[in-house]
Amino acid sequence: MASILILVGTESGNAQMVADALQPVLKAAGHSVDVSDKAARATDFLGNDVLLVVCATHGSGDIPTNILPLAETLEHDRPDLSGHRYGIIALGDMTYQDTFCGAGKKLDEIFARCGAARIGERLEVDASSQPLPDEEALTWIEGWKALV
Ligand SMILES: Cc1cc2nc3c(=O)[nH]c(=O)nc-3n(C[C@H](O)[C@H](O)[C@H](O)COP(=O)(O)O)c2cc1C
Repeated sequence: MASILILVGTESGNAQMVADALQPVLKAAGHSVDVSDKAARATDFLGNDVLLVVCATHGSGDIPTNILPLAETLEHDRPDLSGHRYGIIALGDMTYQDTFCGAGKKLDEIFARCGAARIGERLEVDASSQPLPDEEALTWIEGWKALV
């Protein structure tokens, strides 16, 4: 069983709501699961072999301010994360065509560059067609958790 940390990037709470909906599902599958919106460096998840990033996009393709320190530290320091696996749930809105889910895509690249192995495909949730991101995430997690 895995030790999972759900990393939340949010400005207005949707990503936190998704994380809170997924935590009990992953726990029920037998994993230990914590949720954090404050992780800022790789040492904050040393004890977690699996990371699930749930991240909104703001501004114009920008990473939410609460998770920006983590993104910048990983990008700058390039720690060896080859012992970690990760998943990505990117929240966005298709009306921002050019920057749709930009922050989740950037974090996906950053974790891959640090050597972490992605589990499954990235989920991209479009707020313009899906007002309930937790529902879409709850469907997606069924496939993802089988791969953990
Ligand atoms: C001011 C603002 C800017 C946004 N910019 C983007 C964007 O560039 N790309 C995108 O895909 N979504 C964008 N969004 C949509 C949010 O990512 C989406 O509403 C998301 O569900 C918000 O999640 P949160 O409540 O966790 O912050 C923007 C939303 C707001 C309010």
